[in-house]
Amino acid sequence: MNRQSAVDRIETLREQIRYHDHMYYVLDAPELSDAEYDALFRELQGLEALFPDLRTGDSPTQRVGGEPLGSFPSVQHEAPMLSLESDQDEEALRRFTDRVERGLDNPSRLAWVVEPKLDGLSIELVYEHGLLARASTRGDGLRGEGITENARTMRSVPLRLRDDARPVPELLAVRGEVIIRVDAFEDLNERLISEERPPFANPRNAAAGSLRQLDPRITASRPLEAYAYDVLASSGLDVSTQWETLQALRDWGFLVNDYSERAADADEILAYHARIDAGREDLPFEIDGVVIKLDDLEAREELGFTSRHPRWAFAFKFPPRVEQTRIERILASVGRTGVVTPVAIMEPVNIGGVTVTRASLHNREELARKDVRPGDLVRIQRAGDVVPQVLGRVEEPDRERGPAFRMPRTCPSCDTELVERGPFTVCPNSFGCRAQLKGRIQYFGSRGALDIEGLGEETARLLVDEDLVERLPDLLDLTVEQLVELEGFADLSAGNLVAAIEAASKPELHRFLAALGIPEVGGAVSRSLARHFGTLDAILAADEDALTDVEGVGPIMAARIVSFFGEPHNAENIARLRERMQVQAAETAPVGGALEGKTFVFTGGMESMSRGAAKKRAEALGAKVTGSVSKKTDYVVAGADPGSKLNKAVDLGIPVLDEAGFMKLLEEADE
Ligand code: IVH
Repeated sequence: MNRQSAVDRIETLREQIRYHDHMYYVLDAPELSDAEYDALFRELQGLEALFPDLRTGDSPTQRVGGEPLGSFPSVQHEAPMLSLESDQDEEALRRFTDRVERGLDNPSRLAWVVEPKLDGLSIELVYEHGLLARASTRGDGLRGEGITENARTMRSVPLRLRDDARPVPELLAVRGEVIIRVDAFEDLNERLISEERPPFANPRNAAAGSLRQLDPRITASRPLEAYAYDVLASSGLDVSTQWETLQALRDWGFLVNDYSERAADADEILAYHARIDAGREDLPFEIDGVVIKLDDLEAREELGFTSRHPRWAFAFKFPPRVEQTRIERILASVGRTGVVTPVAIMEPVNIGGVTVTRASLHNREELARKDVRPGDLVRIQRAGDVVPQVLGRVEEPDRERGPAFRMPRTCPSCDTELVERGPFTVCPNSFGCRAQLKGRIQYFGSRGALDIEGLGEETARLLVDEDLVERLPDLLDLTVEQLVELEGFADLSAGNLVAAIEAASKPELHRFLAALGIPEVGGAVSRSLARHFGTLDAILAADEDALTDVEGVGPIMAARIVSFFGEPHNAENIARLRERMQVQAAETAPVGGALEGKTFVFTGGMESMSRGAAKKRAEALGAKVTGSVSKKTDYVVAGADPGSKLNKAVDLGIPVLDEAGFMKLLEEADE
């Protein structure tokens, strides 16, 4: 391919990829399959490898580049990033709208835009001539941390503004909010836990912690999204209202909140606030109120700013989901894996419509750090679906505090001496401890596992206390006659539970795996295992090496899995469960290596390994390596000083990988 056709093709590919990124990450309406998108992306990578001088910073291939930073540079904002006047009372809102009305010469300009107040962190994105020039966190409002490399990794942040619907201003500084959606937050935490790393307390912390990473590759692996809602500064911008600004931001390719609306007066604002509050739990992201903005931009200028706030906007907050209550006592609760957790039992308190009486204090170290004791007044937070948290103690100088809670030495359930594992305290009596068995039963029937309706905490407790279940497989032998004897059970409920257990006895493989409660193996890993191995026998036979080939399984987890299956009680339980259940086989990814059936040609030298080694790696994953390029070639890997094979590949339209692209492919195939 000659240079001019490469220039043309590269431009076309970039436009196509930008378009599809926008469809996927902003409009949530993908048009291509992953494979089709990957083909475009790889072709672009190949051409950029062939003509490295055509590689530009705004190319979609350049979202992650460079090395980790030593620290974040300090960056001055284009205009101060102010905060908002805020309150949660209707009266305060009415005072605000009245004040604005009085401040305006021409009240016909009084119209509002109302937007959800996203609970994330505020960033500035600066575009020069349509290209992302820098990004920063809010910092002290005047200067923030330069996080340009990290912002580039978010696919909802355009690297280049779209100019098809409206012209792009010379300078554009956009303010927005970086968040993680609630479902993505839960997946992220599950992933962190499976990697034995500490999870985040709430989506806001997860967003902040992920954006403020010195290594952009870590940020790139986190499900961050950036919503744009304000133009901080611009030159050459022609809009006259906030509503138009939001439309312009959409046109330029930003993600803009679709829940924003217009409101005529305080009553409409209140109605919007009430509506959003009522639907809050169902929103995909966390919000802590709504923001009210004067729509007319000239009217805004008329009003101006105080030293801290614009006079034309107001944050109308929801009642906080933080409340105070007193700890009645702290108890040690034994979970299904034997971990003993200190739990605070509190005077009931209503937090955002939900009555809270218990909160986990996590472990010995966390308890010592928070130093909360029975009798203390504490602040409790409820965030999304996450378990309530004890934020900390409220100082009461005049009250004498009681003694600190000490973790017991022996298991509160089976009296076995407890052992310490890092910050955790553990009951080692895995198979004799009734508390652990109750936890396992409850987990067995939980939604992510076998989803057995009626097998909750209370039933699990009764089944164990009344000696109906001594080992997990006993569950499958329960009869209606036995259950009706239990407190709270009648013919109908007993019949329903037996039927529900029966209905769960032909489980999908991943559900069965999840139900076993292998430490650290949650829903996502169970799915990966099922997809990778296909049958329970294959999983039981796998050694640590084979397990680490599975996506999401590292060496520590692989060792845990092998030791779980090797433990005689577990092996016997599984065997007995299988006598009574028919575990379904799963559909697997194509057998053999991940590169099975693919033909590779190498040309030019590589930096990180010899060509021979590269060939071996590819072959180990099932690929065939040949010496000449033909239509049957799937990939050409071009290192330094590639030969004519590269030209031939480009002529034939065969995807070309540079060394980094090849390494990435190996990594993906290795997962
Ligand atoms: S407007 C001058 N709109 O809430 C304009 N803020 O203090 C200032 N926030 O720090 C911001 N969603 O991080 C605006 N739709 C929205 C918002 C929003 C969330 C945050 C922002 C700001 C804080 C208010």
